Amino acid sequence: MNNDLKSVIGYLKGKRGSDFSGYRTSMIERRVNQRLSATSCKTYPEYLLHLKKQPEELDYLVDVLTINVSRFFRDTLAFEYIADRILPEIVYEKKKTDDHSLRIWSTGCSMGEEPYSIAILINELFEKEESDLSINIFATDIDRKILKKAETRDSVAFC
Ligand SMILES: C[S@@+](CC[C@H](N)C(=O)[O-])C[C@H]1O[C@@H](n2cnc3c(N)ncnc32)[C@H](O)[C@@H]1O
Repeated sequence: MNNDLKSVIGYLKGKRGSDFSGYRTSMIERRVNQRLSATSCKTYPEYLLHLKKQPEELDYLVDVLTINVSRFFRDTLAFEYIADRILPEIVYEKKKTDDHSLRIWSTGCSMGEEPYSIAILINELFEKEESDLSINIFATDIDRKILKKAETRDSVAFC
């Protein structure tokens, strides 16, 4: 990655704490170039200046750099494992303690398919097996625009 592009990615990291430097250079170039065209900047230094002057551009940059593809139960095997092994085991272990809370974090939740898939599994489990666990599912994403879209789906607050 050339130094000018590195400066753009470094600036984003400093402002948002998101490190995209491990992504393929060709992918980063292609996507940052889309923002150069959209903002009529000719060079990376010019674009960096634009980013500094227009902080809302950071949202657009994150938006082009992230891939938001998601589906309910997207990784079938992982969800089967969570349903058959992980959740029953957690519930079993919690029963032995005074801790009645279960907190789950979907770190890159996109439009919410993953946290909702987990909620569905928990619901199904609790239909079979009684439980007094209090469940909290947290859903976060680096991409503010996808969170805004997620919020339009229903009244759940994504952060
Ligand atoms: C390919 S989607 C997958 C969504 C969901 N986890 C799934 O498996 O269906 C990846 C999501 O992770 C988000 N993401 C990428 N890096 C992230 C980070 N460092 N912190 C939080 N979210 C991140 C992206 O914005 C994107 O919405």
